[in-house]
Amino acid sequence: MTIKAVVFDAYGTLYDVQSVAAVTEQAFPGYGEIITQVWRIKQLEYTWLRSLMGRYRDFSVITRQSLAYTLRILALPYDSATFERIMDRYLHLDLYSDAIAALSAMKDRKLAILSNGSTDMLNALVANSGLDRHLDATISVDAKEVFKPSPDTYSLIETTLGVRPVDVLFVSSNPWDACGAKAFGLNVAWIERVTPQAMALACVESGLVSPLTMFKAIRTQMDELDVAPDHRIRALSDLPKVVASYGS
Ligand code: LAC
Repeated sequence: MTIKAVVFDAYGTLYDVQSVAAVTEQAFPGYGEIITQVWRIKQLEYTWLRSLMGRYRDFSVITRQSLAYTLRILALPYDSATFERIMDRYLHLDLYSDAIAALSAMKDRKLAILSNGSTDMLNALVANSGLDRHLDATISVDAKEVFKPSPDTYSLIETTLGVRPVDVLFVSSNPWDACGAKAFGLNVAWIERVTPQAMALACVESGLVSPLTMFKAIRTQMDELDVAPDHRIRALSDLPKVVASYGS
């Protein structure tokens, strides 16, 4: 068996999503880290939620909505120029320093990206970073209107490159993506960027934001999914009044 194509996840694998922290910190001093983390967590969450809800919007919309959520729940006032400046970083993310050399060393294989990113976002990012010269294809899940790890998305590799799953090595640092690709039937290399030792160390270091605050920030505030509940109440005890408001 030989590997005929090496296919990469984009965000977090070839491109460092943490590199937005420079611009989020510049825009909101002291908040760069918390914005960066809540934004990425919510961005991914929205891909899965929208896939399950059957309400696909492309990744640029999702990236905007997750940033809007983040700034709102942190009560950070912003103008559209600031918002756009932060968003623009997504088109100029830093490449991991070993990316180009790794791609160059495998140029005898087909090389491609398969990403949740929208076609426009990916094309801009790949061109801005010069990666277009190293890739045979940049594949967006847009064509399927569903996000990874839906099996439909991984099937785009074969339909685009003409290479069977058994001849593909899929590379991702995102554990859920690596598992999704494996479940689909690809050969998979997971990049373990944070070792268990580094993880253990991080746990004993003190952070600015307590875990409970982080939980509240990502799980208790209303989401940006273009739908809203009919009622916003504070306690179960508020319910009888809501029910009664529909008439008897
Ligand atoms: C990608 C994100 C999800 O598909 O990492 O590139």
